[in-house]
Amino acid sequence: MTRRTASTLRSSRWFAPDDFRSFGHRSRMRQMGYAPADWAGKPVIAVVNTWSDINQCHAHFKQRVEDVKRGVLQAGGLPLELPAMSLSEPIVKPTTMLYRNLLAIECEELLRSHPIDGAVLMGGCDKTTPGLVMGALSAGLPFVFLPAGPMLRGHWRGQVLGSGSDAFKYWDERRAGRLSDQAWAEMESGIARSHGTCMTMGTAATMTGIAEALGLTLPGASSIPAADAGHVRMSADCGRRIVEMVWEDLIPARVLSRSSFHNAIACAMAMGCSTNAIIHVIAMSRRAGQAVTLDDFDAASRKVPVIANIRPSGERYLMEDFFYAGGLPAMLQRIRSHLHTDAMTVNGRTLGENIASAEVFDDDVIRPLDNPIYAEGALAVLRGNLAPDGVVIKPSACAPHLLQHSGRALVFDDYASLKKAVDDPDLEVTADDILVLRHAGPLGAGMPEWGMLPIPTRLLKAGVTDMLRLSDARMSGTSYGGCLLHCAPEAAIGGPLALLRTGDRITVDVPARRIHLEVDDAELAARRAAWQPPRRRYERGYGWLFGQHVLQADQGCDFDFLETGFGAAVAEPDIY
Ligand code: FES
Repeated sequence: MTRRTASTLRSSRWFAPDDFRSFGHRSRMRQMGYAPADWAGKPVIAVVNTWSDINQCHAHFKQRVEDVKRGVLQAGGLPLELPAMSLSEPIVKPTTMLYRNLLAIECEELLRSHPIDGAVLMGGCDKTTPGLVMGALSAGLPFVFLPAGPMLRGHWRGQVLGSGSDAFKYWDERRAGRLSDQAWAEMESGIARSHGTCMTMGTAATMTGIAEALGLTLPGASSIPAADAGHVRMSADCGRRIVEMVWEDLIPARVLSRSSFHNAIACAMAMGCSTNAIIHVIAMSRRAGQAVTLDDFDAASRKVPVIANIRPSGERYLMEDFFYAGGLPAMLQRIRSHLHTDAMTVNGRTLGENIASAEVFDDDVIRPLDNPIYAEGALAVLRGNLAPDGVVIKPSACAPHLLQHSGRALVFDDYASLKKAVDDPDLEVTADDILVLRHAGPLGAGMPEWGMLPIPTRLLKAGVTDMLRLSDARMSGTSYGGCLLHCAPEAAIGGPLALLRTGDRITVDVPARRIHLEVDDAELAARRAAWQPPRRRYERGYGWLFGQHVLQADQGCDFDFLETGFGAAVAEPDIY
């Protein structure tokens, strides 16, 4: 393998020349206390840190950034911390999805505009993983992704609590009058016990696992709990490794191939992944010039069984148990026959080499292929006259009797009226109806996680625990139930969902991958002729930019002008 030399380092454009501008760069480095021995001939490593005072999942990043720097220094590089926006999933409103692409822009431009040779990306809380990866892919410099790691298991009165999933479950119990205020208040202190990301198989665990399956993390990195000393060691390993990656010129284009994305999809299925994986993997693949589609997910879902017994698809366990059972390398070893084991990874070895010695230590947590949690994959993509560009469901987290169902639509145009209606004791609704929320897609509302529509209180009190729900929104990876999501095209741009009326009949057939609105074409044409587009939400600012350029869910919700292939490649910055 040919290695880069010091004179070809990207950062040398800033520091090496004997000219006026480089004098300025060097004198300003000296202003911060650095000497030429710190930078001359050394890879400059950006440690892109998504820490903030209000991101609970990244609370340990202040310490971990020092561990990464320690590794970089040991390997002969110069680490520079570059803060990037921190997207706390539960805190940022209206939804972090609105800001994933902004983080991607920030990451790309941070790397491009500074004298950076390689990067360690520190993320994990939901959108921070795809946001950082998308930006770094477009920047094209060598990088390693450092996952925040899952938090410890939740605890309450001797029971284990899982992020999100148990909050949803017990909130419904409280609404049904079966849980006391005291018990609910106690859970508030017990459900999130340490720093780190959600410890169910939510979007964070899904996306960090996918980053590992793509080959963008060090082996095993995504499963290590945030509070484990192994996470500190892995952080320093990332620092050491990125310096070598710069010398090896191991840029993303040499790591990622179409095989990498197929591995990511197979991994997602075996994990019982969050539905959000579809949007983010499609977006990342298009940035990498290796576009995958909804059909790739559906095809994998028919072949790869769910074997990670992690809530909400699984019955009992959480990410801490997954780590003790061998973690992601062990799970990947179990699905080895579904992987392209020759795909490259950031440690310079193939995925197959990285998982060769991995073992499963608990067959109930990581099931054998012949005893899966769910024989078919975690996700299914349905199409039909109501969703020509697809709607997504997580069959493994849905009551089996709803997988083939026909019901009356009960349609809501905004969340406020839905919320009011579901608590109305006189609401005319049965468990066979299909609740519908529209105008919650990318343009409608920034595509928030509203898709696990609340079951009406009177049904909850009658013992109903699941019903079909349809929307153009997403749902949290920790959610569950018969939720049909990402309906595309969305209602706000006149997708067929916009034409639906309360009382219409919808037929859903998951095994046949079909969703059908039982209204004839002439009636639909008449409704379309009368349809008026809703007013756009944002008249100015970033929200306006988002509305002008965001793509639909089946295309990954990236901005059209950020995708690879949009116009010419971005040049290196001029330095004069
Ligand atoms: Fe950060 Fe769930 S809230 S990962």
